[in-house]
Amino acid sequence: MYRDDFPMLKKNLIYFDNGATTLKPQCVIDEISNYYENYSANSHRGDYDISKYVDEMYEKTRDTVQSFINAKDRREIVFTKGTTESMNMIVFGFMKNYLQPGDEVLITKTEHASNVLPWFTLEKELGIKVKYIPLDGNLVTLDNVKKSMTDKTKVISIAWITNTIGDVRPIKEITHLAHEKNVLMVVDGAQSVPHRKTDVLDTDIDFLAFSAHKMLGPTGVGILYGKYEYLNQMLPINYGGGMNSTFESDKSLEYKELPLRLEAGTMNISGILAFRKALIYLEKIGMDNIEHYEKELKEYLIDKLSTIDNVEIYNMNTESGIVLFNIKNIFAEDTSQYLNHYHICVRAGNHCAKMVKDEINIKNTCRISLYFYNNKEEIDKFIEVMKGNKDIFKVII
Ligand code: ALA
Repeated sequence: MYRDDFPMLKKNLIYFDNGATTLKPQCVIDEISNYYENYSANSHRGDYDISKYVDEMYEKTRDTVQSFINAKDRREIVFTKGTTESMNMIVFGFMKNYLQPGDEVLITKTEHASNVLPWFTLEKELGIKVKYIPLDGNLVTLDNVKKSMTDKTKVISIAWITNTIGDVRPIKEITHLAHEKNVLMVVDGAQSVPHRKTDVLDTDIDFLAFSAHKMLGPTGVGILYGKYEYLNQMLPINYGGGMNSTFESDKSLEYKELPLRLEAGTMNISGILAFRKALIYLEKIGMDNIEHYEKELKEYLIDKLSTIDNVEIYNMNTESGIVLFNIKNIFAEDTSQYLNHYHICVRAGNHCAKMVKDEINIKNTCRISLYFYNNKEEIDKFIEVMKGNKDIFKVII
């Protein structure tokens, strides 16, 4: 039923790389053209009708995001380029002034680069200390979080769901532990917000970063959520038009109020407007339905894949729709080339999470990341191809 809404699914493809980016439904694609064809004006600058209409739709998108993640205040939603930019804003716009030399930030070795490299850089610049929460198997446990916290811990910054192992972290419980010790909780939601219900009020997290393109929306649009009291202290990392209310030749300058203060320059307007269509589409399906369906699909996939003799699976125990595997003694990129021959798209390599190898003792893997439009027929076709993998070099050479 949903599949008919996705033009890419009418091609001869099995798309299993939804962790990298998802396909777009027609309503999202149409909204981008609609903007350029019918009201192609800038936002928050014009006094004419089409510009006012753009302002209205832009702010309506903010309201839709607010309700999608259950934020208390619409000013807590800031549009960015993507998760990476949101994470950089949190670290360099807020933490750089909030933290002191010697303060400790806890991450894990299974974080994506965008939740590692800004912290490594701040460690060099400011003398904070980035420490790793040890994993239990490949999972984050409350016990290990507790053991990793010291009097110097000021921030815990982890993914809700990792983009490799696909483990779902107990974010609400970790946030509770963190807040008992006045530790701030930063969450990378890139792989979780598209796949399950997100409630920032209930979990009480302090910051959340995620991307539109991993949840049916356009590329180049992301969200930074932060509690008002923290966002209001955040310094912009971009300065320019749209974020100031005045500046004078004597160098005096006043910023706008949140959230526009953090949205300098012309934003990806068509993308933001089309993102609203994506959110409405997801809400119509229901995030709980998406979560349950993906879980069922992953179990089906694991059941079948684990019966193939020469296949190793590295994350049988995790709940999300991500499966990491290799054909024994075959380089992951060769496997993905082999699958590509049969028009099956998977990602191979280290998946921008280069420290994961320290946890699972394997550097390169193939990753299947499912979404609600994938189905059992596609999995059956994939399994059939995988069963013929003895011929891999005949096929790819
Ligand atoms: N972060 C994206 C992924 O996991 C690109 O593939």
